[in-house]
Amino acid sequence: MARGLFVTGTDTGVGKTVVAAALVRRLARTGARVVGMKPVAAGGLLATPDGLVNEDVIALRAAGNVDAPLAAVNPYVFEAPIAPHIGAAWAGVEISLDRIRDAHTALAADADAVVVEGAGGFLVPLSDTLSFADVAVALGLPVVLVVGMRLGCLNHALLTREAVLARGLRLAGWVANRIDPGMAAFDDNLATLTARMQAPRLAVVPHLAAMETSSVTIDWPPGD
Ligand SMILES: Nc1ncnc2c1ncn2[C@@H]1O[C@H](COP(=O)(O)OP(=O)(O)OP(=O)(O)O)[C@@H](O)[C@H]1O
Ligand SMILES: [Mg+2]
Repeated sequence: MARGLFVTGTDTGVGKTVVAAALVRRLARTGARVVGMKPVAAGGLLATPDGLVNEDVIALRAAGNVDAPLAAVNPYVFEAPIAPHIGAAWAGVEISLDRIRDAHTALAADADAVVVEGAGGFLVPLSDTLSFADVAVALGLPVVLVVGMRLGCLNHALLTREAVLARGLRLAGWVANRIDPGMAAFDDNLATLTARMQAPRLAVVPHLAAMETSSVTIDWPPGD
């Protein structure tokens, strides 16, 4: 089993958390100790006994079976729902790759697998020089790409595939997530992606009612 995965998406709001949590549950079902990680979160803060916590972090923690410290699961959190490097600048914080790597190392010490969710898409900036792609490279994780199935997604998916491969990372698979139930020519778009992604299609997730998104299942490893 891979020591973990890096879940990215074609955009923000395309189902990364839904898929990352499903992968965490899938791996946990094999008996492995699995923890989710959201290195950088912006906005979506909810009141919890641990204080204000980002909603993706709450979902990933609920899916996992390792009781990991919040500061390791989510080293950086910013209040405003904006691009992380801007949220960081507003907070007077410089996002450090070393701090993310250290947090990941701490999680990996107590888990068999760490499923890391990005923020937004693959090249989202984290500082003047860093992007989320650098996190994936620093952690050396195979990438799972969540494609939010809507008009425009073919270009976003294929660009992301190129960006992943250009960094020497493995595209471990992709998920077609039907976020727009009204997408025209869904089957044709799905067939185009399936022909061009040249990586395992892990799942086609139908459009679901809100309550159902926490029970999505994803096969892992592919073809199992
Ligand atoms: N297949 C689906 N059917 C219906 N709703 C979905 C589906 N997948 C995701 N959603 C909903 O779309 C919204 C965005 O999903 P999610 O939070 O997983 O996206 P994300 O890519 O993680 O976003 P972010 O960039 O904010 O982290 C959520 O409200 C989620 O419940
Ligand atoms: Mg998310």
